[in-house]
Amino acid sequence: MLGGELGNSSASSLDYLRPLWTTLRALRLNTVLAPVYWELVEPTEGRYNFATLDTLIRDARANNMRLVLLWFGSWKNSMSSYAPSWVKTNQARFPRTEATRGQGQEILSPFSDANLQADARAFAALLRHLRAVDGARHTVLMVQVENEIGMIPEARDHSAIADSLFAQPVPTALMTYLQAHRDSLAPELRTRWDSAGGKSLGTWETVFGHGLHTDELFMAWHLARYTERVAAAGKAEYPLPMFVNAALIRPGYLPGRYVSAGPLPHLIDVWRAAAPSIDFLSPDIYFPNFVEWAMKYVRSGNPLFIPEARLSPQSAVQALYAIGAHNAMGFSPFAIESVREPERHPLARSYEMITQLSALILAAQGRATMAAVMPVVAFDGAVNDAPQRIELAGFALTVTFEGAAPAAANANPGAIPADGASSGSATQAVRGGIIIALAPDEFIIAGTGIVVTFAPVTTGDPLAGILSAQEGRYVDGRWAPTRWLNGDQTHQGRHIRLEPNEFSVQRVKLYRYR
Ligand code: DGJ
Repeated sequence: MLGGELGNSSASSLDYLRPLWTTLRALRLNTVLAPVYWELVEPTEGRYNFATLDTLIRDARANNMRLVLLWFGSWKNSMSSYAPSWVKTNQARFPRTEATRGQGQEILSPFSDANLQADARAFAALLRHLRAVDGARHTVLMVQVENEIGMIPEARDHSAIADSLFAQPVPTALMTYLQAHRDSLAPELRTRWDSAGGKSLGTWETVFGHGLHTDELFMAWHLARYTERVAAAGKAEYPLPMFVNAALIRPGYLPGRYVSAGPLPHLIDVWRAAAPSIDFLSPDIYFPNFVEWAMKYVRSGNPLFIPEARLSPQSAVQALYAIGAHNAMGFSPFAIESVREPERHPLARSYEMITQLSALILAAQGRATMAAVMPVVAFDGAVNDAPQRIELAGFALTVTFEGAAPAAANANPGAIPADGASSGSATQAVRGGIIIALAPDEFIIAGTGIVVTFAPVTTGDPLAGILSAQEGRYVDGRWAPTRWLNGDQTHQGRHIRLEPNEFSVQRVKLYRYR
């Protein structure tokens, strides 16, 4: 899915959205992520209105796009702002979480059956409707259940019911899951459990120790159980793939300071145990350390789909990297309709190139015949663009990034960039690529601003030379060369170079010599 997520309010009026499809098409999207708002589909209890959704589906089809729908139900960025007014104004029937001092929060309680039933009923109605209007055509591919679930500014609910459940034993279902998966648990969870004695039963604090992290684990279980029941109610009507997304964590923040207890990497086992109807967990990657978060989300075999990422020129190589290095199902920068001059945006170039290569990429996914590279950026924006070595199809490939600082500076990349942690990407050159082995000695190398050299994997084995290099495109799945590259373009046979400031594809044959 070459995606983009709409800003939160853009799908509430299709008159507002209609002129923006031109932008989405020009960006070469094939999938749009769009919210469905509980407050608008069920303005009166039990009476559903899916007219706006139906038009959205019709407009998506007319623009040759698929949809991933985002259920803004009980929770949206921790808060319950999308609950209908009949829920918001009836606190006695639809209780909220409470802060330590007993003050209610605008967060629906996950401990309330009334809250759960109201959300699950609406979600089931949505999926029932989708099956009726789209069950044959499949314009809607998947559904995100809720949005950035979690607790802030305290890691757990302190209502009477939450306190009483917190004092009870950890549910058997969770203990059984942890024991069965002990060897593959997220390392953070395993360490917490082990340091509290690795017990197989007891209260939350007996099993995991006292502290904010245990508050978070407790809430994660209950938020995930609630989400499971909502998702299961929807799947019973129409079993589309379903996922949840997480707001990520700044370094050093403790639970309560970030949106806690959501589907975060250190809580992945709790979410899996509690919510088997959720097919995968997704990161919303707004921080510069994109590579690090992508890796955390795949480390336990979780399939990667990135429903939100900071929209920037870097989105163009982040998409390539996620798809090529981690077999991502899709990538989707946020507020996609806000792009001005979409034809000129690097994302449009990258998505166009990925579209050309899609048959090859899909054939290579899940096999060891594809790799992707981009510079590794730290949370504080420091860019490490030192050369990266890849082994693919029996060759060692070294990828150098155009404009990289000399090797000595790379060893201590502290100085970049000027604008700090929030957007290391803003000033950084766009560089990265995807490499696909087509045959033992043949590669597709695609992307921007990289230089690739080739060597044997083992020193002493025959050397690797470039037999031929063609620049070209895939047209209807067939390779159409535009130029035969050699001479200066390959540095007289020494390397393959993809020019910066454009996205290009080369088909390269190697040979071996002594
Ligand atoms: C993450 C949320 O999931 C989105 O709905 C939106 O609020 C963005 N943050 C805004 O940056």
